[in-house]
Amino acid sequence: MHVSFLLLFLLLLLLSLLTSPLGSGRGSSRLPCPPSCKCSPDAIISCDRAGLRHLPRDIAASTISLNLSNNFLRLLTADAFSNLTYLNNLWLSRNNLTFLYPGAFKSLCNLRVLHLSQNSRLTYLHANTFEGLKNLISLDLSHCNLFEIHPFVFSHLPSLEALDLTSNNMRYIPEAFRKLVHLTKLSLERNNIEAIGTDSLKDMVALKDLNLRKNRIWTIQKDAFLRLDRLGVLNLGHNRLSDFPKQLFAGLTRLRTMHLEANHLTGISCPFGSLRSLRKLYLNNNHIASIADSAFSALKELDFLHLNRNNLSRLSSHLFADLPKLRRISLSHNPWECDCSMLWLATWILTYQGLIEGLHCANETSLLSLLDREAFLNCPPPPKFTREDGCDGGHQNGASHLPALSQKLVYALLPWWGSFPFSFLPSNLISL
Ligand SMILES: *[C@@H]1O[C@H](CO)[C@@H](O)[C@H](O)[C@H]1NC(C)=O
Ligand SMILES: *[C@@H]1O[C@H](CO)[C@@H](O)[C@H](O)[C@H]1NC(C)=O
Ligand SMILES: *[C@@H]1O[C@H](CO)[C@@H](O)[C@H](O)[C@H]1NC(C)=O
Ligand SMILES: *[C@@H]1O[C@H](CO)[C@@H](O)[C@H](O)[C@H]1NC(C)=O
Ligand SMILES: *[C@@H]1O[C@H](CO)[C@@H](O)[C@H](O)[C@H]1NC(C)=O
Repeated sequence: MHVSFLLLFLLLLLLSLLTSPLGSGRGSSRLPCPPSCKCSPDAIISCDRAGLRHLPRDIAASTISLNLSNNFLRLLTADAFSNLTYLNNLWLSRNNLTFLYPGAFKSLCNLRVLHLSQNSRLTYLHANTFEGLKNLISLDLSHCNLFEIHPFVFSHLPSLEALDLTSNNMRYIPEAFRKLVHLTKLSLERNNIEAIGTDSLKDMVALKDLNLRKNRIWTIQKDAFLRLDRLGVLNLGHNRLSDFPKQLFAGLTRLRTMHLEANHLTGISCPFGSLRSLRKLYLNNNHIASIADSAFSALKELDFLHLNRNNLSRLSSHLFADLPKLRRISLSHNPWECDCSMLWLATWILTYQGLIEGLHCANETSLLSLLDREAFLNCPPPPKFTREDGCDGGHQNGASHLPALSQKLVYALLPWWGSFPFSFLPSNLISL
């Protein structure tokens, strides 16, 4: 009697498990699926290219990922996604969104990733646009037409780590960024920003990657980067910078990559004194005609120095001294004058372990022909190294060493070299 009762109970239990949403592989097959969308059992709904002009209605409350890309949505009304409290991922890219009503995303308390890119009619963000998105980590607003962002718009996004505003119409760095204290990645590439103020970035202390490439930046105020001590990559390439305040990069002690290519720089004095972690420095495609003697002397980790396409005719003899990690130097497309003042470089190259690219002398001779005995002996002794360039950042040790191979040693070796056997050249000279 008891046994059959127990069996019946077990049977009922099994039946209820099978029919409940939990028991049937999450049971999404029973949940409504909006017309012209695809709904997968693991709560992913894809309405990509579904021709939608309005938000579909029957979106199951258990949905985790919703893709509404490539449709014709124009407006999102207040609380447009009510009930979708499980939603993690929302794609609204490539629609025709013109306005996001305040509170449009209000119920999406678990949303982590929001894609709004390529809505070219989106020009303005209201203060409460992102209300309720307290767990949002990544926001993609690239390729819209934003030119104004309300100062409080990001105060609703306390968890935001990545913000993409590539290809918009921003003309300045909005005050709204001050709230983004956890942001690690920010792109403002391809906007119309002209200036960076002392306070523009100061509260984004968690930033690791800052992309300001392809703007119109011509001025950066003092201390603008001072508090960004976690920054690893700074991209200022393709702007209009011709000069910086002296200590501009102070504070960037963890910076590994700096892009300054394609600006209007004409000379490098000593802006790099605190970049002790810098590995890659891009200075190519400027108009640099002079570089201070110890401009790079603090860059003990420097691995790659890019000086292509500048207006350099000479380099001073201590430029590469004491850069133990330097493995690659690009020098092509500069009007190099291969005269006595560059003799140091010819001798230095003989022992250099890395790769030097594109050192072509303006008058078609080879830099190495300076090592030809006659030419060499006609050169006056090199000038003494002085620290008059004012780059001294308190790292005196070492920078006063002579270049790797002393001139004395070269003198000693010259008779043996005779007219210089080019077949003996180390492979790093191939491109000379
Ligand atoms: C959503 O659609 C876009 C556009 O077709 C696509 O790039 C993206 O990968 C889709 N997202 C998901 C999660 O399937
Ligand atoms: C939200 O869910 C409630 C009940 O769970 C339902 O009555 C209401 O219509 C839903 N709202 C939307 C917008 O789906
Ligand atoms: C996009 O929206 C605008 C008005 O905001 C409308 O004039 C235009 O026809 C819409 N385009 C498409 C492809 O729906
Ligand atoms: C290159 O530098 C020289 C001075 O060394 C200057 O006269 C010339 O205008 C500069 N050219 C360019 C293109 O900047
Ligand atoms: C090239 O310039 C160097 C230094 O000014 C000079 O010694 C050399 O003779 C020149 N060579 C030619 C081919 O003009």
